Amino acid sequence: MLTPTGELVADVRARGGAACAFNVITVEHAEAIVTGAEAAGCPVILQISENAVRFHHGRLAPIAAAARAVAMAAGVPVALHLDHVESRELLDEAAPNGFGSVMFDASKRPYGENVALTASVAAACHAAGLWVESELGEVGGKDGAHAPGVRTDPAEAAAYVAATGVDALAVAVGSSHAMIDRTARLDQGLIVRLRDAVGVPLVLHGSSGVPDDELSAAVRGGMVKINIGTALNTAFTGAVRATLGDRPDLVDPRRYLTPARSAMAETVAAALRLLSPALHP
Ligand code: G3H
Ligand code: ZN
Repeated sequence: MLTPTGELVADVRARGGAACAFNVITVEHAEAIVTGAEAAGCPVILQISENAVRFHHGRLAPIAAAARAVAMAAGVPVALHLDHVESRELLDEAAPNGFGSVMFDASKRPYGENVALTASVAAACHAAGLWVESELGEVGGKDGAHAPGVRTDPAEAAAYVAATGVDALAVAVGSSHAMIDRTARLDQGLIVRLRDAVGVPLVLHGSSGVPDDELSAAVRGGMVKINIGTALNTAFTGAVRATLGDRPDLVDPRRYLTPARSAMAETVAAALRLLSPALHP
């Protein structure tokens, strides 16, 4: 069932775990994420990024409608989140397309600009009924806040949340986007200090590159939303490659998308079993 993101996150947090948010690129991603969540018996967040919208010819509505329909038919609570948005125009499309939340990403901007822009976006989004996530890192390097060495300062994070009014904060603690091996090491001590300094839920981006033990420790330390994207694509593409490798005669996409979707669902279920409390334990 479609559930507001804020409600879903608060419920999972109250039960001592994290909400996992998985990136949707195609309809098969959305179906796989919900299948995995149903298998694990956990709530889940479907998130569509500005980059994914660009892939869909810049049109949010069709992929959002598909994800929303998949969410509404699900046997577990499912939230819809618009991720890594830099465009104000795209933010305006979130509520009308059924999203419960957005992540406004001004993390590459200098601190003062990030604060001013995020505060104004958060006010507008709250007026539209949306839960708002934003990001603060110590900007440096071409990858911005998610360059591996970048860290969020706890005192600055507390001031930032108070000044912007955001509902959740993505922090830089050692993860990095789009890793295809799981070798990232998180600054677990910093996660605890950030949790103690910042009242709102903390969000970990780039979680595909983080091994299970580090993810579990991060949730124990205070991470409440865990964003996973690349791991699904690794599963999807690996299954397609294995299916097509020695089958030049195979042309029906259902023949290779079925194992690809199953591989993603298994990845989703494994992450949820590790990090998220089941609805009926
Ligand atoms: O916002 C999305 C996530 O940060 C996904 O990162 O693709 O490295 O898992 P990832
Ligand atoms: Zn991210």
